[in-house]
Amino acid sequence: MLEVDLAGVKLRNPIVIASGILGISRGLFLRLDREGAGAVTTKSVTLRPRSGNPLPNIVELEFGLVNSMGIPNPGIELMCEEIRSAVPHMSVPIIGSIAPTSAEEAKTMASLLVESGASAVEVNTSCPNVQDIGINLINKSVELVRSIDREVDVPILVKVTPHVQDVPSFVRTLSEAGADGFTAVNTLKAMVIDVDLLRPVLGGVVGGLSGPAVRPVAVRFIYEIRKTLPGAAIIGTGGVENWRDAAEMIMAGADAVGIGTALRRGLKVINEVTDGLRSFLIERGLTLDDIRGVVP
Ligand code: SIN
Repeated sequence: MLEVDLAGVKLRNPIVIASGILGISRGLFLRLDREGAGAVTTKSVTLRPRSGNPLPNIVELEFGLVNSMGIPNPGIELMCEEIRSAVPHMSVPIIGSIAPTSAEEAKTMASLLVESGASAVEVNTSCPNVQDIGINLINKSVELVRSIDREVDVPILVKVTPHVQDVPSFVRTLSEAGADGFTAVNTLKAMVIDVDLLRPVLGGVVGGLSGPAVRPVAVRFIYEIRKTLPGAAIIGTGGVENWRDAAEMIMAGADAVGIGTALRRGLKVINEVTDGLRSFLIERGLTLDDIRGVVP
C-alpha cells in the first residue's frame, strides 16, 4: 500500500535516502536497501574526487545540523563502480546525484551513472558550500538540465535551494528545459560562531542548515511546486524525523520523502517512518493517493 511511482521509477515505499553521508559505497547501498528504504540517493559526485572543506565540517544544534562538507566524494568513476556492483543485488532504485560545474560535465556524469545502473539523475546545483557549484542559478541550471535531457532517458530531478524566491517561475522554467521533477529542498545557507573562541565554528565558515528547522520551508516549497506543476515528481526533503513529518510533506504534494539528518539516530528511523505511515493510512482507511496534495 506504500508503493510510489516517481516519474516512472517504481518505489516500494516513499522513503528516499537523501543525498548525503550514507550514499557512498556498495556496502551502504545494500544496507539501506535491507533496512527498508524505498530508494537510495548517492552522495553528490563531481567529475574528479574532492576532499571537501576543512574540518570541522559539521555542527549539531538543538534544531538541526549545519554542515560545510564541500561535497567530499570519490569522483564519478569510483561512484559508478560502487553502483555497478550494488545494483544486481538491490531491490530498490539508486538515484545518482551529480554536482556538475558545466553542461559538458553534467552530460558525461549523467550518462556514466545511467550506464552503471542508476534509475534517475538528481542534479545538485544548490550546495551552499562550494563556490563553483553555486546556488541554483537559473541559467546554469537550465543549461545543465538541457544537456542531460539530450543524453539520458531516465528521470531528471533538480535539487532546489530554499533561497529561490519565485518558486513557480523557477520550476516551470526547469520543467520546460527537461526536468521531470524536483528534490525540495537543499540546506539553507547558515553560519555558527563560537563565542568563546571568537571565530566561526565551521572550517568552511558558512554552511547549510538541515533538520527540523527547515521542514516548514520544505513543506511550503513542495506545496508551491505541486500547485505549479501538478504532474512533476517531487521528493520532499528537509527535517523529516518521523512519520507525521513524512505525511505532512505528502499532504503538501510530495510523491516521496527524503530522509537525511534523521539518520544520525540510526537506520531504524526508516522502518519507523514507513510503519507509522502504513498504520495511519490503515486506521483512516486512506491510500497515499488520497492524501497526496490534499491540502487546498
Ligand atoms: C556538501 O557536501 O557540502 C553538502 C551537500 C549539499 O549541500 O548539496
